[in-house]
Formats: sequence, C-alpha cells, structure tokens
Amino acid sequence: MKRIILILVLIILGADCTFTEGTSEIKPGSPLPIPPILSGMNLNLQIQEGSLELPFGTSASYGFNGDYLGPTIRVRKDDYITMQIENTLSESTTVHWHGLHVPAEFDGGPHQIIKAGQVWKPKFQIAQNAATLWYHPHLMGKTAEHVYRGLAGMFIIDDDYSDSLSLPDEYGVNDIPLIIQDREFDRNGSFTYGPSHADLMQGYIGNAVLVNGAFKPELELSRGTYRFRILNGSNSSIYRLTFSDSRQFTVIAGDGGFLPKSVGVENLILSPGERFEILMDFKTSEIIKLNLEIYGSTGHEIMTMKIVGNNGRYFEHPANFLYEPANFESLDLKKRSFIMETRGMGIFTINGARMDMNVINFTMDKNSNEIWTIRNQGMGMMNIPHSFHVHDTQFKVLSFNGRLPGPLYSGPKDTILVMPGDVAVIGVSFKDYTGIYMYHCHLLEHEDTGMMGQFKIE
Ligand code: C2O
Ligand code: CU
Ligand code: CU
Repeated sequence: MKRIILILVLIILGADCTFTEGTSEIKPGSPLPIPPILSGMNLNLQIQEGSLELPFGTSASYGFNGDYLGPTIRVRKDDYITMQIENTLSESTTVHWHGLHVPAEFDGGPHQIIKAGQVWKPKFQIAQNAATLWYHPHLMGKTAEHVYRGLAGMFIIDDDYSDSLSLPDEYGVNDIPLIIQDREFDRNGSFTYGPSHADLMQGYIGNAVLVNGAFKPELELSRGTYRFRILNGSNSSIYRLTFSDSRQFTVIAGDGGFLPKSVGVENLILSPGERFEILMDFKTSEIIKLNLEIYGSTGHEIMTMKIVGNNGRYFEHPANFLYEPANFESLDLKKRSFIMETRGMGIFTINGARMDMNVINFTMDKNSNEIWTIRNQGMGMMNIPHSFHVHDTQFKVLSFNGRLPGPLYSGPKDTILVMPGDVAVIGVSFKDYTGIYMYHCHLLEHEDTGMMGQFKIE
C-alpha cells in the first residue's frame, strides 16, 4: 500500500520526479545558489572536473573555478581585460564570450582550442554598452556536451549609463542572476550526456530543471523591487516562463542591453542562449512559484520565492532607455540570406551547407552594416525550431514575418528564435576587428551536428 501511495504521489508530482521512483524522497528547497562575482582587470578561470550534488543524486560535472557553472564575470565598458584560462580537464575545450564584441582571435570559437593542461590568455577591451552576456565552450562537435556538463557562466557589463539609472543593482540581493537549464536524470538521479538520435533532431530535453545548478531552489526576498537577469542556458529547450499568480512583470533588457521601451508581460519565451532582464515588485508576504514550460515537452515548477521581510527597496520601472543602433536605412547595404533547413535525421544545414572548419562561408568588409534575412525552412511534418546566433555583434531586428518586431525584440540582440516558416530580417554591424567568426543555430545539438558557418572580416 505504501508503495502504491508513493507511486501515486510521484505521478501527481509530475514527470520530473519519475527518476526517483523507489529511491528516497526529493527534498527541494535549498537556497538559490548565487554564482560568485569575478571582477577586475585580470581574471582567472580554471576549467575543472567536479561533481554536482542534488537532493536525488550526484553527477559528474564540469565547472569554472568550481564544480558546476562558473562565476559571474562583471566588467565595465572601456576596461582592458586580461584573462588567464587554465584547462585542467583531460580533453580540449574553448571558452566563448557570447554576445561580446571581441577580436576574432579571442572570441573563443572552434578555432581557439585550449588543449588539456594548457592556458589561454585572451585580452581585449570591453567595447559595448551595459548588458547581460554569458560564456560557454565552443569546441567543434563538443559544445553541447561541455555546456551540458556545466560549463557556463554570466558575463555582466556595466557602464556610466547603467550606473546613472535607478535600478536594483546589488548583485545577489536585489539583482539576481537566474541560469536556467534542464537535464535528463537517470534512475540513479544523475545526468550524463547521452542524446538519442531523436534527441539530436528535436534537441536534448531533460526531465528536471535546474536554476543556478539547484533543483527547485528557494529564494527568500523582502518586499521591494527585484531585478532578475534570466539566461536560457539549456542545450536545446525553448522555455516559456510564468509566475504562479500570473502576475505581470516588466522586461527592461534583452540579449545585448536595455530595450528602447520597457514592456509589461505575463510570460516570457527564451530560446537557448537568449537573455532577458525583468523587474518585479513584491508588496505583500506571499509565496510565488516560477513556472516553466518546455516547448514540445512538459511544465515544471522551478523555483519558490518567499516574500518575508520588509527591508527591501522599491524602484520605479523606467519606461524608456537609450538605444542607438547603427543605421540600416540606406538602400545600398549588402544583403545576405540564411536558410536554416532540416534535411533528414540529424542533418541540419544553413544555405545547404554544414559546418566545415576548413571552409569560410563568406567574407565581408571591416566596418560594414549589412541586412541579413534568416528563414527557418522547416521540413514536412517535423516542427523543428532553430535559434540563430551570430558572433561579435548585437543586431537589430528590422522585421519579423513581415512586421515590425514587438517590444521584446526591439533592443540589441544576438540570438533569435525562428520557428518553421518564420522569417527574421536583421541589421548586423561589424566594426574594429578582422578575422573569423561564427554564425549558427544555438540549439547546441544542431550546432554540433553542423548547423554552423563561418565568415571572415577583412
Ligand atoms: Cu553562445 Cu557561438 O555561441
Ligand atoms: Cu556566441
Ligand atoms: Cu537548430
């Protein structure tokens, strides 16, 4: 009888608990871990093996300066940064700065390999506005596995403008990073990277969701205004976020910085690699859950917020922010088109080609603005989404399916979800640096199987 009740409870609790069947009960509710800050002009990262302990089991993992995930790198616009990145793993990897305008040789893409035991020393100036970016490996064919094991971290840029705004900015107190990732746990309660053929097609979607590396963590907050910097750090899952009381929240920033106009919404969709910053006011003692639905999969309750104290601070939600994109009005801008196409089991192409480390797919001039059209061509009955990402720049969405982009997509972006049939027209702008950069689908299983290309700026 006891056993029947246990199974019933597990069924009621939902799909994300089935892997614990027959083992001890899950004890969620550990405090939300906040990745430590790494700031200054000289930054040291050590890529290491570790293990991630969760209430239901332990998994072998990778991390930066720790067991899982990495510190939040926090730098200022105009600063010159020198890094020392040591790979203590027994395999090669790379470290890419997603969303950063950075010299090609320090971009950390598939060509900047850090072999086992080696140290990589990128150095560059921070040459863009305040934003929430992130970093993760980018080794050809191995990105998905390395990210899955835990190699990811946030990368926050501050500038004079962001300092001048009245916004919650006490890291870990009222300015809180949320790195959301799903993982497929087995019966022992651990996860290892082992996608099936179908997973490679649809993306590797897990049965439980981690926030900052914790399962269903709890966050105790005071009454006041909070800012959350949200990253979809998953391999291939498209997330839709809502709060249990269906409350509205204010979105103030996207991938590459502040939106021109903040916008109130009740749900937020993030494809892999995308970020948003939101503001929320808590006015009464209450318990609010952060819920997440995975596209094509199940819903999860991923975090509990307990509003307890009253020593928080309230902030106005600003209506407008400064945004000065490059000008894409001129008629003689170079146009390119990128057709993202599924051509069979595990065959993903851009303009009919798969990534070849020895092929430069196109070249362009330094200091140029171009107009790119991105289309998800789809494939018969298979509803496969793609998420287009380009290195070194923040683009401006000029139109989406023939219309002006909505408010959430009106700011600087580096990654954009294109569902089958969708067409995004984006203005891209490259300046300062020459060299080889990547464009690809940010569903990492697609990227690793070849849905990537490279361009050379000369
Ligand atoms: Cu976030 Cu080319 O990657
Ligand atoms: Cu990137
Ligand atoms: Cu894709």
